[in-house]
Order: sequence, then structure tokens, then C-alpha cells
Amino acid sequence: MTTLAILTAAGSGARLGRDLPKALVDLGGSPLVLHAARRLVGSGVVDALIVTAPDGLRDVVSDLLAADDRITVPVTVVGGGPTRQASVAAGLEAAHARHDVVLVHDAARPLIPADLVQRVVKAVRAGHGAVVPGLPVTDTVKQVTPGGDVEPVVATPDRSVLRAVQTPQGFARELLVRAHEAGRERAVSEDLAATDDAGLVEALGEPVHIVPGDAAAAKITTERDLRLAELELEGRA
Ligand code: CTP
Ligand code: MG
Repeated sequence: MTTLAILTAAGSGARLGRDLPKALVDLGGSPLVLHAARRLVGSGVVDALIVTAPDGLRDVVSDLLAADDRITVPVTVVGGGPTRQASVAAGLEAAHARHDVVLVHDAARPLIPADLVQRVVKAVRAGHGAVVPGLPVTDTVKQVTPGGDVEPVVATPDRSVLRAVQTPQGFARELLVRAHEAGRERAVSEDLAATDDAGLVEALGEPVHIVPGDAAAAKITTERDLRLAELELEGRA
């Protein structure tokens, strides 16, 4: 009974717009991928890491993790794919079958608290095959027919039943493998690919459960998100 974490770090970070991949961008003196790896390991419930790295930067990412004394579990670095879904699939292929629980976590969410990781693993170990952290939605959400500067509204879903989901998402390994195999043809382009792993499990018709998320696990997409993460790191958010 061991837990593997697949840490996705192979994206380019186009929306952040730096001259290096987002996972290698600095936050308070360390790159995002190192923050995320330290926190996964520091949770005490992760036994091994597989990191998906951008093309040509496998060695850079490997060296970074090998040099850090807080990364006390075995680390494998694999090349990512053209989409996040393809990168996770590449990580899963490198996963040893002895790990019965697999977490999938984005390096773009560097500041995950230990108790969030523990909560997800605990719920999977309690028998839920797919577990996702989620937060209540505070904005009213409108469904539209997209396109143009003025978009017609189709519906206003009841906000009380909506959750904004985060990572790490946790799975029984065999269920995640089955979900990725069934969804493989979608992994080729961003238009078709699943935006999270739980979506692939849902497509199988298997149940997915939500546990409470954490605002500190917010995703860094833009420069503004990076500034907010700096405040979070300094305890000023
Ligand atoms: N990711 C990945 N492989 C890809 C695309 C994304 O491993 N082919 C990872 C990213 O490194 C990130 C996570 O998936 O940790 C979430 O993706 P996102 O926030 O979209 O990051 P990027 O794709 O790097 O950013 P952008 O979409 O702005 O280019
Ligand atoms: Mg992306």
C-alpha cells in the first residue's frame, strides 16, 4: 500500500509569457516544481514521485530535484506530451504497479498544504476510487453560447451545487490507468483533451468524490497569480 504522485510540469506556460517553462519560474527563491515536490513529499503520505518535464529539460528538472535535501523519496523524470492529459499518461506508463494509489498534481499549484494532500489520500484509502479537492464557487456562473464580444446567456446553474476543483486529485491506480486508456485518443490536442483526470473517470461512468480544497492551492496562470502566490508564501494572503 504505497502512494505515487505524478507531478505535471511539462507545460510551456504560454499565458505567463516568460522565456522559460512555468514550472521553472521562480517563486520566493525556488522554482514552482520544487515547491510542489517538497510539499507533496512533506505531507508524509507520498512514497515516490514521477515528474513530467518539458522537452529538452529532463536533466535540468532531475538535477534540481536530486540536489534538494527535502526530496527524500525516489524520483523519476519523464518527458511530457503535447497536452496535460498526454503528460499524465506518460507518467502513468512509468508508474510501478506496486503503488496502489496515484495522485496527480500540477506544478502550477506550488503551495499545497500538507493536510490537503493527506485528505485526498485518506479518502482514496477509505474506498473512493477517484477523489478531487474542490471549493464552493463564489461568483455566479452563467452558461453562454460562446463567441463574439456580446454572448447570449443560456442558463444560470445553481451555484450551491458547483465546486471549483483543484489538484492533487487522487485515484486507485487501476482506475486511473483504465480511464487514461479509454480516453487516449483525446490526448492529442488541447481542444479534445480532458482538463482534469477526474473527467476521464467520469467518462467511464465511475463515481468521483469531492473533498474540501484550499485557497492556498490556487493555480498560477498569469503574473497576477504569481504575485498572489508570493503573498501566500510570505503569509500575507
Ligand atoms: N502540463 C504538462 N504537459 C503539458 C501541458 C501542461 O505537464 N503538455 C502541466 C503544466 O506544467 C502545469 C499543469 O499541467 O503544471 C497545468 O497546466 P497549465 O496551468 O495549463 O500550464 P501550462 O500548460 O504550462 O500553461 P499555459 O497553458 O499557459 O501554456
Ligand atoms: Mg496549459
